[in-house]
Amino acid sequence: MSVPVVPVIAAVTGASWEAALVAGLERDPSGITVVRRCVDLADLLAVATTGTARAVLLSAELRRLDRDALSRLAAAQVAVVGLYSPGDDAAAARLRQLGVGQVLPADAVPSDIAAAVAAAVSATLSSGPETAWSQPLGALPDGAGPDDVDAGAAGEIIEGPGTGTLVAVWGPTGAPGRTTVAVGVAGELARSGVSTLLADADVYGGVVAQLLGFLDEAPGLAAAVRLANNGALDVAGLARVAPQVSPGLRVLTGISRAERWPELRPAALEQVWELARSLAEVTVVDCGFCLEQDEELSFDTAAPRRNGATLMTLARADVVLAVGAADPVGVQRLVRGLTQLREAVPGASPRVVLNQVRRGAIGAEPRAQLRKALERYAGVRDISFVPHDRDALDAAVLQARLLGEVASGSAVRAALADLAAGLLPAGAHRARPRSRRLLRRGA
Ligand SMILES: Nc1ncnc2c1ncn2[C@@H]1O[C@H](COP(=O)(O)OP(=O)(O)OP(=O)(O)O)[C@@H](O)[C@H]1O
Ligand SMILES: [Mg+2]
Repeated sequence: MSVPVVPVIAAVTGASWEAALVAGLERDPSGITVVRRCVDLADLLAVATTGTARAVLLSAELRRLDRDALSRLAAAQVAVVGLYSPGDDAAAARLRQLGVGQVLPADAVPSDIAAAVAAAVSATLSSGPETAWSQPLGALPDGAGPDDVDAGAAGEIIEGPGTGTLVAVWGPTGAPGRTTVAVGVAGELARSGVSTLLADADVYGGVVAQLLGFLDEAPGLAAAVRLANNGALDVAGLARVAPQVSPGLRVLTGISRAERWPELRPAALEQVWELARSLAEVTVVDCGFCLEQDEELSFDTAAPRRNGATLMTLARADVVLAVGAADPVGVQRLVRGLTQLREAVPGASPRVVLNQVRRGAIGAEPRAQLRKALERYAGVRDISFVPHDRDALDAAVLQARLLGEVASGSAVRAALADLAAGLLPAGAHRARPRSRRLLRRGA
């Protein structure tokens, strides 16, 4: 019986076990054929795009191996099997933390390596090239259990794998109020006793830090992504870069300057969201507006894509809030935006929030008018309304504090509190028995 041949790349140069490994595979009848040896990561990434190999055997010692590189291998449909020097548990843990699903000691017998290659190839085929950023995530690193997690003053940390809910706040161009809704909803969730993480992932420049009165450039989301990209982020590390700003509310500040967008790498950001599910019951993400997919770059799997972070976040979110401005231009932009959203992220079922609702912009009975328009042009029936309330928001912005702190009796705050409460019931909230809450410190 002939065994199908699986062409693989070996990227294990310099490892003491390289010669034994390759010789062992060559002798073995399991069908693994080393078609190419790569000396470094650049060589590997170049060869991966040629389509000559289905998988790569790579050494944990390969220099500059990071999540970004793994995402590029996934985009090229090259499955990854990680090999480490026997006994080097730290190297094994690092490979897993980077998201490598198949990890073996280099002295594993060839038939085990062949089985790992087969499993990695079938996982890569089922994820497909379009979801290069959605490669399987590594489990929490060994030893990142709750006992050695430093919760700081920020309340509880939940035992992994995380069960927290990811809420993406998105909306079309024209500043409809995505940030206002994200900050407001996160603030209200925290006030109602739900541990919350607010993250600013706007790739066009974030202002959450400024709105909440951060004076210095905080490490924030970019630092979390950098750590994740290097396979060095765990729940405790995420907690360290997400300071607490009020009881139960942590914040991951964003990139203040828009040109820093390449720092929000989708593959690593995906792991940040996964860990966030262990850090907070709800993570609220302020997303960029744009959903364009940089078509002209799509043949080049290695090129960074500005909106990759937004698209990945929307695809991963349990709840998407689609915020539109409640005026004729805002409604038209929202209707177009919802069509783009359905195309770009087919799985998302957004909940529509119309913000800045006022008579002057729409006429008498604005809610009824808005309902009619949204149903007619977007088939949307379920709408949340947030009233226009300049005074309340001015007070919050001026004092760099939450609406609940400076305008607790305002109509806009009441609407955002309702919106927050609506995120919690069974469907949206991942049920989690209270007994799994392990730590409660501070606030
Ligand atoms: N309900 C509201 N009532 C009054 N003003 C509002 C309301 N919501 C938002 N605003 C104001 O509208 C402006 C834009 O809001 P915001 O920054 O939240 O929009 P955005 O969609 O995040 O915009 P950007 O594209 O800049 O990220 C801000 O000045 C904000 O204070
Ligand atoms: Mg904004």
